[in-house]
Amino acid sequence: MLSKKMEKAFNDQINAELYSSYLYLSMSACFSAMNFEGFAQWMKSQALEESVHAMKIYHYVIERGGDVTLQPIDGPDTKWDTPLAAFEAAYAHEQYVTGRINDLMNLAIKEKDHAATIFLQWFVSEQVEEEATADGIVKKLKLVGDKGNGLFMIDRELGARTANFAALAGGGE
Ligand code: FEO
Repeated sequence: MLSKKMEKAFNDQINAELYSSYLYLSMSACFSAMNFEGFAQWMKSQALEESVHAMKIYHYVIERGGDVTLQPIDGPDTKWDTPLAAFEAAYAHEQYVTGRINDLMNLAIKEKDHAATIFLQWFVSEQVEEEATADGIVKKLKLVGDKGNGLFMIDRELGARTANFAALAGGGE
């Protein structure tokens, strides 16, 4: 059984993950409007992965006998002037999410909820990957600057990403 404090914190994190999905979908729409279809595809996949993160927590709360209480999702920004601006915002957002996951882990430790600490370990590792990926793209974009050729190549490279639909269907990784 989840403590009420853990239940509330997990519900807040479901909301934060769904907001992340909203944010990346909004970035995807912005890239589509700019005709950067590769960046748009990458962000759409990222949005779907954030839904998977939300669903992992959703299932976990229910499995632990807690109540899922869905909350309103804030509207994300809708416009970024350049791919670099969007990916810098994505990187900053992932750093924020890492902070939230660390807070959740600290709470699980404080509450002596050993099961929750094991569950949260996946998210701790995932955040390392999420930050590294976003940071890597920011660095590449800084390297090419506003050169059309370089941007076109990164757009094409990121367009190869496809979401993990099997995980989406199963609520797994
Ligand atoms: Fe669910 Fe991108 O962290």
